Amino acid sequence: MPELQELLVEGMQDLLHAEHQILKALPKMAKAAHESELKQAFENHLEQTQSHVERLEEAFQDLGVKPKTKVCKGMQGLIEEGQEKITEGKKKQESTADLELAAAAQKVEHYEISGYGTMRTIAETLSLRTVMKLLSETLAEEEKTDEILTQICTTILDEASQKSETDAGKQKSAASKTASGGKAAHSGPR
Ligand SMILES: [Fe+2]
Repeated sequence: MPELQELLVEGMQDLLHAEHQILKALPKMAKAAHESELKQAFENHLEQTQSHVERLEEAFQDLGVKPKTKVCKGMQGLIEEGQEKITEGKKKQESTADLELAAAAQKVEHYEISGYGTMRTIAETLSLRTVMKLLSETLAEEEKTDEILTQICTTILDEASQKSETDAGKQKSAASKTASGGKAAHSGPR
């Protein structure tokens, strides 16, 4: 096997291991998410991840290679971080916990985007059209998921900042009531 194709196969083995780890992590992320949109995004991506595994298996088949996994240490670290966010999030405000969860998921997406991007380009260079097409399809779904997560984070942030403005407003009006109460007492008959 030429060296470049070997690199492609190894990269795909790494991605397959990464996808397997994501399949296990996503249900936990969905369970931990408070915002329904975020929960839904994780559930949708779980379904997509199943087809990412299938596409990789199809790509291996096209190359005449048995689908095998190679330990993906990068993804192990990212998933571990995500798990930490789930645990820490239990003690935090819902919006903060959700933001951290979405941020952890985006790191996973970025890792996948980089992996699929490189492997797709190698497949293209080697004129492996079927493999290239399969990898491109998954890459597009990872990119879309990343975009959706960004949108969800923006919504959560907007809501959180509106809430803190409302809270600040309430505090201000409570403070001014106290102040005017005080003033009334001073300006009363002497
Ligand atoms: Fe994926």
